[in-house]
Parts: sequence; structure tokens; C-alpha cells
Amino acid sequence: MSTYHKVLTRKEFPHKANMERNGGYRVAIAGTGAYVPPKRLTNRDLEKMVDTTDEWITKRTGIKERRIVEDGVASSDLASKAAMRALKDAKVSPKDVQLIITSTITPDSLFPSTSCYVQKHIGAKNAGAFDVLAACAGFIYALSIGENYVRAGMVDNVLVIGAETLSKVTDYTDRSTCILFGDGAGAVLLRRAKGKHCSEVLSTHLGADGKHTDVLTLPAGGSKIPSTTKSIKERLHYIKFRGREVFKLAITNLTKIMRKTIDSSDYTVDDFSLFILHQSNFRIIEATMERLHIPPEKTFFNIDKYGNTSSASIPIALDEVKKSGRLKPGDLVLLAAFGGGLTWSSSIIRW
Ligand code: UT7
Repeated sequence: MSTYHKVLTRKEFPHKANMERNGGYRVAIAGTGAYVPPKRLTNRDLEKMVDTTDEWITKRTGIKERRIVEDGVASSDLASKAAMRALKDAKVSPKDVQLIITSTITPDSLFPSTSCYVQKHIGAKNAGAFDVLAACAGFIYALSIGENYVRAGMVDNVLVIGAETLSKVTDYTDRSTCILFGDGAGAVLLRRAKGKHCSEVLSTHLGADGKHTDVLTLPAGGSKIPSTTKSIKERLHYIKFRGREVFKLAITNLTKIMRKTIDSSDYTVDDFSLFILHQSNFRIIEATMERLHIPPEKTFFNIDKYGNTSSASIPIALDEVKKSGRLKPGDLVLLAAFGGGLTWSSSIIRW
């Protein structure tokens, strides 16, 4: 499945005060926020835990350290902190939030949803709340749902969150996986756009291919392999992947969706000021940029600091880009992500 609909051209925007040609309201990103836990797990720390080196990890992934939660801290705790920062940035009170959508593969519990815990923690008592699961591509899936609720006029304010505590599902005896993952959360507040100048979601695009369900997975704990003593002994409650395979699929699919997203708009690659890709491995990002003939300085990296934070990586990056002042109003940004499922997603944002 994939969705590629027409994106408005730059010329069309000033004439569309409230309603877009393809129906619905314009959707503003009114605020961003992020939170990572203070505890650092460095490559040097990992050298003491498994047979690896700082040099190998840096060269193969670009990661130097990642943030890890303390025992007892759940994804909703990180999500709530990021959400409160996004609300503060947007100057919106928690009681005015009408919908909370959290993307996570590490929910506090299978149910209730992590979004329900967030609703309680931040006091968003007037909000509906549910989670989305599309692995590392999940934040843009959640963004797409939130975008369309606002576009349709069903709600005015939506909190979209990506939050993960991947350290809880990482096998720290397996050197091929444990070097990659970190914990963190990011959030955006979507609001019906008012006036001409605001950061805006122009489009979102989603895709999936279920024939690769086995290349990147957390096998146990669901209805197929419920948690048992046996499943725990076999360490099936930890993330498993076939690294090389995922690596190649990631580059091929990211290149494809980015090209398709740009082709479905009236823009060219050169019209974009920044390309924010899911922070999975700096070599995946570099190879994708190279295939699209985009200069490396037009992308963004923070993988050295946080590792792969799955759903949280795109909203954390958005918040860091915003705070850095790197973009000016009107700049075009392309977001793209790829993850287990397989799933992929992209979005065009006007800053
Ligand atoms: O967001 C989507 C989720 N992301 C992913 O699923 C990750 C995608 N894959 C990757 O990022 C890369 O495949 C990895 C970083 C996981 C691995 O890098 P690679 O260049 O694909 O290495 P490899 O798996 O082909 O392994 C090369 C060698 C092997 O040794 P031999 O067989 O050549 O002797 C591994 O055993 O490196 C060895 N190796 C390590 N050595 C030191 C694997 N992990 C480590 C390690 N330290 N941590």
C-alpha cells in the first residue's frame, strides 16, 4: 500500500488562506519538543559488555553514545516530558489538546495505550488517546493520522508523539544489535493553520511490504509467541534483525520513497533545504543521499549522540533543527523513515 497525492505548489499557498485545493484545512506544526534521559551508554561502556570496539561501532554506524532510561522509567514518562515541551513551545494548554497519538514499539503495556498514560501524566483530560505501531516509520504514520484529523476539521489540536525505551527490548549480550539502540521521545503539536506564515505539513505518504515481516522483529510477547519461560530462555523478547538485509532494504526503499515523494509534488530535489532521515545508521543515510545526488550537507545527523531511537528519531531531529535556527520560514523539508514491517513513510513540510 502506498499513498502519493498531489502536493500544493509554492505559488498556490498565498492564495489559500484556510482551505486547500484537495480539501480541508491547512495543518500547522505549532510546537516541537524532545526529551532524552540523562544516562549515557557510550561505546566504551559497550566494550566492557560485549566483544566490540568503539572504532568498529563508530565506523559501521556513526554512533558514539546513546541515552538509556533508569529502571522503572517507561516510554510514557519520556513521551510526557517531550509533549509538555511541545505544548509550551506552541503556547497551548494540555486541556486544549483534543487528540494524543503516540507512535511506539515499546509501549508501557500492550494495553492501555501509552497515549492514555501520557493523557493522565500531562492532564490532557479533553483528549482522545491511542497508539500507532509502524516501527521506525511510525512517527510519520502518526503524523499522517493527526494531519488528516486537522485537515478534515474534526479537531483543532493534536499531539503527535514518537517515544521509545528500546533499552528494555535490547539484548545486551548480542553485539550485533545492542550497539544500535537508544531511548528518547519527541513530539509535535499540530494545529489548524491560521495566517500565511507558519510551519506546515504539506503532505504525508505511507507504505508497507508485509513479505519481509521476519527481517526485523521482536518475536515474543504477542499472540503468536506469548511470553513463556521458554520464549524468555530463547531470548525472543528482544529485538532480532538480519542486519545486512535490513541495511540494503533500507537504502533501496528510502531512495524509492524519497524520489516518489518529490515526483508527486511540483518541487524538484533542489527546492528542498533539508532532508531529515530516520537515524538508523549514518551509512544508510549517506548512501541514500548519494543515490539521490543530494549534497551531504543537506541532511541532518544526531545518531552519534542518541543511536537509533526508532519512532523518536524524526521528532527529536525536528526539535533540534528548530532550536538550531538552521532553517528560515518557507524552507522545504523532506522527512523519510524506514522500519520493521517493513514500513516506510515520508512527509513534506514547509518551515
Ligand atoms: O531502523 C532500522 C533498524 N536498523 C537495523 O536493523 C540495522 C541495519 N543494519 C545495520 O545498520 C548494519 O547491518 C549493522 C550496523 C547492524 C552491521 O554492520 P555491517 O557492516 O552490516 O556488519 P555485518 O553484520 O556484515 O558484520 C561484519 C562483521 C562480522 O564478522 P565476520 O563474520 O566478518 O567475521 C560480524 O560478526 O562484523 C562483526 N560484528 C561486530 N564486530 C565488532 C557484528 N557486530 C559487531 C560489533 N563489534 N558490535
